[in-house]
Amino acid sequence: MQQRDFLYQGKAKTIYRSDVPGTLIVRFRDDITAFDGEKKDVLTMKGRYNAEVSAFFFRMLEENGIRTHFLGMIDPDTMAVKELAMIPIEVIVRNVAAGSIVRRYPFTEGAPLDPPVIVIDYKDDTRHDPMLNDDLILALGLATREELDRIKAMALTINEILRAHLAERGITLVDFKLEFGRGDAEICLGDEISMDSMRLWDAETGQSMDKDVYRFDKGDVVAEYSRVAQRIIT
Ligand code: C5P
Repeated sequence: MQQRDFLYQGKAKTIYRSDVPGTLIVRFRDDITAFDGEKKDVLTMKGRYNAEVSAFFFRMLEENGIRTHFLGMIDPDTMAVKELAMIPIEVIVRNVAAGSIVRRYPFTEGAPLDPPVIVIDYKDDTRHDPMLNDDLILALGLATREELDRIKAMALTINEILRAHLAERGITLVDFKLEFGRGDAEICLGDEISMDSMRLWDAETGQSMDKDVYRFDKGDVVAEYSRVAQRIIT
């Protein structure tokens, strides 16, 4: 598969067309941003670790019957994916209270959320990704009732699969963000599942092993991403 025209550049990934119709090429860059892009840096190797972990999880999910956009790796930081019509929502699954829900609601950081809480935000930087509810999603025409139910069911199944895998490796899956799209008239998981999009805590020490290390200057980000990637994929 050959890289063709540049299509789109996000905060941490660049998307290209490929020479194969219906497929795209995604390059995970070393750029890292936080707080709506206010904090930004370039961290050598970060893209590779995120690509490696994303590919590992996409393969694992496919083996467990979840349809994803993943087709294969082209380079350590570059994957081939199915082209999807992306739905502009961010689906966040939370098993433990942390981050924005602790700031916005009276949850105590670290409190278990059982059953898990799904929060869906509108993906729109100019509006700072406002939180949606089912009625808003339907009124905005972002998804049909059937698609929304499917997305939520997939998100919860993905949570169970990831949570079990990580728990076996002594890692607590606190929360994570998913993005979905339509491919061949079916809802597919797109985007990435990486240390940039998950909150992971060491089950013993409670230490952050994810983008919070960058957000809150908790240590050497690349060293942490490298360590956690090894723990996840082995
Ligand atoms: O910031 P907040 O606590 O709402 O984030 C919840 C989870 O979703 C975190 O794991 C965070 O890294 C992820 N997230 C993301 N992209 C966003 C917003 C949140 O990957 N735009």
